[in-house]
Amino acid sequence: MSGHYLWSKTGGPEPDIEMMAFLAADDVRLDRQLLLYDIAASAAHAAGLARIGVLDAGEAAAVKQALDELAAACRAGRFTCSAPHEDGHSALEQALVEKLGALGRKIHTGRSRNDQVLATIRLYLKDRLADLAAACLAVAEAALERAAADPDLPLPGYTHLQRAVPSSLGLWWASYAEAFIDDGELAHLVRAHLDRSPLGSAAGYGVNLPLDRDGVAAELGFAGVIHNPLYAQTGRGKFELLAVQTLGQATLDLRRLAWDLSLYTTAEFGFAALPPEWTTGSSLMPNKANPDIVEMLRACHPTVQAAAGEIENLLALPGGYHRDLQSTKAPLLRAFGRGLAALALSARLVTVVRFDRAAMQAAVTPEMLATDRAIDQARTGTPFRDAYRATAGRLPATAAGADVAASLAARVSPGACGALDLDGLRHRAAGLRRRLPSRGSSSAGAPPAP
Ligand code: ARG
Repeated sequence: MSGHYLWSKTGGPEPDIEMMAFLAADDVRLDRQLLLYDIAASAAHAAGLARIGVLDAGEAAAVKQALDELAAACRAGRFTCSAPHEDGHSALEQALVEKLGALGRKIHTGRSRNDQVLATIRLYLKDRLADLAAACLAVAEAALERAAADPDLPLPGYTHLQRAVPSSLGLWWASYAEAFIDDGELAHLVRAHLDRSPLGSAAGYGVNLPLDRDGVAAELGFAGVIHNPLYAQTGRGKFELLAVQTLGQATLDLRRLAWDLSLYTTAEFGFAALPPEWTTGSSLMPNKANPDIVEMLRACHPTVQAAAGEIENLLALPGGYHRDLQSTKAPLLRAFGRGLAALALSARLVTVVRFDRAAMQAAVTPEMLATDRAIDQARTGTPFRDAYRATAGRLPATAAGADVAASLAARVSPGACGALDLDGLRHRAAGLRRRLPSRGSSSAGAPPAP
């Protein structure tokens, strides 16, 4: 086993096997999702070494060739790291050494696994935030289409879960469209915010080489570098947390959408129904068709929130690298894996939910026009508080001539039922779509399946 670990020195005792297994935890399995990013970052690092004369042109070309082959093997599922490797970084270096011999042992010049993992995660974060922006946008666009298809279907507007004023399905859908546009824009902004390369920070203190950090960053598609090498290191986990919190904004909205659907699909509300292929059955009760999908979408936010909490708790550390930071990886990957899958499914679910016009119409009861009546009086000069009291004293009378469609049409305050202005939202959605990075612009291409 001597020389097994990257850091093994000759003549030292072998590390305790159980301890090493505990330290690796599930890192080796998780790193499989990150290998392509690690390979891309390694190629850029090697090219940077060539630019400062640490590798000659022939060596740099051979390293690049070997890394390309490893990336292809990785995509084909033929190169994964497994238990004997301490982590994906070790597996990668070992694979390079197997291919290139002494040249493979040069790749780590001026690099630490600390900046290697930072670069790997940064690239992962950029891709997942791009995915998040696109996923939110897809939900928003689907919701906008539903809003445009049925803008005027009446739907009770609730406060405190009590019937309040007449509202419309268009307003309800448009509210989610705007929410997910916000969430997508935030993901895009956060992606730009963390678009800086940590490579070349080494173990957090730089090295005695004039590393071409800017060139390496540019080659990887980063907008710039994290300048201070110690901050590059102490930023580990901070940006994972920000990304997961950004995802949390979307899953928070998703939870509310799922909750609404959960209520609206009950017999008690009766407003909405899922197509049969989107429901599940009961093992006991033959009559059941269950909306498990909305419940599991709703359950995503706790997963994301818990991941954020786990990461934040891990950051209670002094400066410099600490192995604790390795544990930020699992919650990060878990949150994005689950959250992005939920959003992708949600965009499809939005297009298939069915609504029952008669049930929704029947639920908009006449007393809900009371606010309209009070405002009608206030419009002609009666102080609103007086109109409010007068209307409250004659609630049954508000039923007279109740015309829900007219009430909705008259609600012309901007954004409300009579002035939904879906074009404004479409414009924002289109703007975000134009700003999304093009597919295939990732440094790594699609990551291998976990
Ligand atoms: N698997 C490790 C991590 O995620 C890689 C960095 C190891 N660095 C070290 N100094 N032991 O943190």
